Amino acid sequence: MKITVMGQGYIGLPTAITLSGAGFEVCGFDVNQKTIEQLQSGKIHIVEPGLQLAFDEAVAGGHLHFSSELAPSDVFYIAVPTPFYQDDSGAHKADLKYVESAGRMAGKLLKPENLVILESTVPPRTSEMLARVLSEESGIDMDKIHVAHCPERVIPGNMMFELKNNDRIVGARTPEAAEMAAAIYKKVLEKGVVHKTDDLTAEMCKLTENTFRDVNIAYANELSIICDKMGIDVFELIKLANCHPRVNILTPGVGVGGHCIAVDPWFIYEQFPEEAKVIHASRVRNENKPRFVAEKVIGSLAKVTDTVGVLGLSYKPDVDDMRESPSLELCQILKEKGVNFIACDPFAPYGDLNGISNVSFDEILEKADYLVITLGHTLFKDNKELIAKKPFYDCVGLMEK
Ligand SMILES: NC(=O)c1ccc[n+]([C@@H]2O[C@H](COP(=O)([O-])OP(=O)(O)OC[C@H]3O[C@@H](n4cnc5c(N)ncnc54)[C@H](O)[C@@H]3O)[C@@H](O)[C@H]2O)c1
Repeated sequence: MKITVMGQGYIGLPTAITLSGAGFEVCGFDVNQKTIEQLQSGKIHIVEPGLQLAFDEAVAGGHLHFSSELAPSDVFYIAVPTPFYQDDSGAHKADLKYVESAGRMAGKLLKPENLVILESTVPPRTSEMLARVLSEESGIDMDKIHVAHCPERVIPGNMMFELKNNDRIVGARTPEAAEMAAAIYKKVLEKGVVHKTDDLTAEMCKLTENTFRDVNIAYANELSIICDKMGIDVFELIKLANCHPRVNILTPGVGVGGHCIAVDPWFIYEQFPEEAKVIHASRVRNENKPRFVAEKVIGSLAKVTDTVGVLGLSYKPDVDDMRESPSLELCQILKEKGVNFIACDPFAPYGDLNGISNVSFDEILEKADYLVITLGHTLFKDNKELIAKKPFYDCVGLMEK
């Protein structure tokens, strides 16, 4: 069986590698020529533990290749971006142009027996839109198009394990699509279990999972602001509350970032603004947290001319992904307020990053008068004593005993 994975980013590339390891003939396809050239040259373009090794093994096995030209295939996976944009009124809207364009490209080659698996995270009824687009391009009746939505749930940093061991939701539009998609995932999965449902439930399932985390973190962030007013340690409070067998509050931070948790709740709110009150309030709470942190930091500086050192720019520890990163938002606010600042993120290139000076750990320790810990990168965890020599504001509880 030949599988083409459309989109060779954080999700598509590890997926292509894993599928090839499970015995499928796989083509990694991307519209970005540079990405394909780099992969063809034998070097991966994202940071993920174990990925380069798995890539080398898959390519050497002869069942994985990369192309910037889409060719006929038995199965088309779609793993393209699904960001949001803000319209003129400031409302958050899902941007589905990548899904639609991938669908139109696959539709031109689609045969009735083929399967299309949508792995991107999408708003409710996107699978239906995809089936319509595939039908328009292929001329196949929409009810006969085999589309399954199988949302990806892996966590960056542990993808190669989770791709084989997480349970998978297979939300299909036809019984044939459900069987075909389930058979593929069963071949890939070691411990994970396949759960079959309809496409709309699968779409909502992924959004529900990420929104659950956003709401929980919003609660933690709200507690951090309340604790700050009360003068008590929020990290100790949460640790104690979590001793309760049925309480599990997540960790506060500088906000919430990334391509998923900071985005997906908007997909529900866009379609249900009257109903999604808790979801909306949580999003707003998390979006406002960098401003709270900036004000705390500015209020703590000994002199207005002091240099603030921001420890961490990516959206989570030990990854290079900066999409929707609240640390970047914090830097932006510091800049607006005229604060001198530098940053250190070992996963980003040193130098100027769109107006943010990213320096080495040694340099930030030397030059900053005040440190803000926005992330628990291992480099920072391993050097707590050095950080503690400066005054600091700890957003994530890194310096807790
Ligand atoms: N990154 C994560 O941790 C994660 C986790 C779970 C789910 N997801 C979801 O997976 C999807 C993909 O995310 P990602 O992080 O891999 O994005 P990404 O930006 O890393 O990669 C997407 C790739 O798709 C390519 N692309 C765009 N249009 C295309 C087309 N028509 N045909 C072929 N390629 C095309 C882009 O060039 C890019 O290389 C998103 O919906 C995201 O929400 C991501």
